Amino acid sequence: MPKCQTTAYALVMEPILRQAATGTRIRTPYMASTPSTSAHFRHDETRLSGDPHLSLLDLTPALDSDVPEIVSLMNLAYRGADTEAWNNESYIKGPRTTEAAMREEIAAKPAGRQLVWRREPRGPILATVWVEPTEDDVWYLGALTVHPGEQNGGLGRDLLAAAESWVGAHGGHAIKMTVVHIRAGLLAWYQRRGYALTDETQPFPYGDGRFGTPQRDDLYFVVLKKQLIGS
Ligand SMILES: CC(C)(COP(=O)(O)OP(=O)(O)OC[C@H]1O[C@@H](n2cnc3c(N)ncnc32)[C@H](O)[C@@H]1OP(=O)(O)O)[C@@H](O)C(=O)NCCC(=O)NCCS
Repeated sequence: MPKCQTTAYALVMEPILRQAATGTRIRTPYMASTPSTSAHFRHDETRLSGDPHLSLLDLTPALDSDVPEIVSLMNLAYRGADTEAWNNESYIKGPRTTEAAMREEIAAKPAGRQLVWRREPRGPILATVWVEPTEDDVWYLGALTVHPGEQNGGLGRDLLAAAESWVGAHGGHAIKMTVVHIRAGLLAWYQRRGYALTDETQPFPYGDGRFGTPQRDDLYFVVLKKQLIGS
């Protein structure tokens, strides 16, 4: 567990650690059968100290019954728009994921968590993100998604901050992610949130139909990394 070296870190971590200590939703396993009932918050009511990096959305691990809704949300956000906007993947046709692919991925990575955020306890899923421990205390973060109707209002920023807090509360000291190299706007967005480009790249999974059909043959991933505060 990272040390609480800064006030900022403590502001973020203490509520989470308290949650963990009392055994509430933060420990809920992915396939838990009963939905949690603890409070949810509007994302803009959870900011702390006016620092845009310090906010806590009430993220919950997805239930198996959430998978269809998460898949629809991801496909809408990643592939729903037909424009070359900074925040979608118009250069890949077809769905970003399927229910079968998501269940397969989750089953193959039992330490990973698909986290979701709802404004109301029984309301629609408006945001989701995948977090997963990989090497040592480095976690992978992926599939960061905000419903298109909620975008550009700070929810993505809050979602990322809350996922980082989740990772820190579970012993992660750093986060790695992969981004398709042509997504300049998205790379800039992550860099504004403290993620730095590494020298590492990864090949695009050409031929793996689970991610859709790329419309160009030069895609690859760049790897970004962020050291978490206090670690
Ligand atoms: C990426 C994503 C999660 C961001 O969510 P969001 O709620 O819109 O994020 P925020 O409201 O916090 O931030 C919006 C940003 O868009 C920027 N923006 C708005 N219009 C823009 C444009 N035309 N070009 C570039 N950036 C733009 C804003 O400046 C703001 O960034 P800033 O806060 O650093 O100034 C969301 O767009 C999404 O779900 N995209 C589809 C899925 C995806 O591609 N995810 C990335 C996974 S690697």
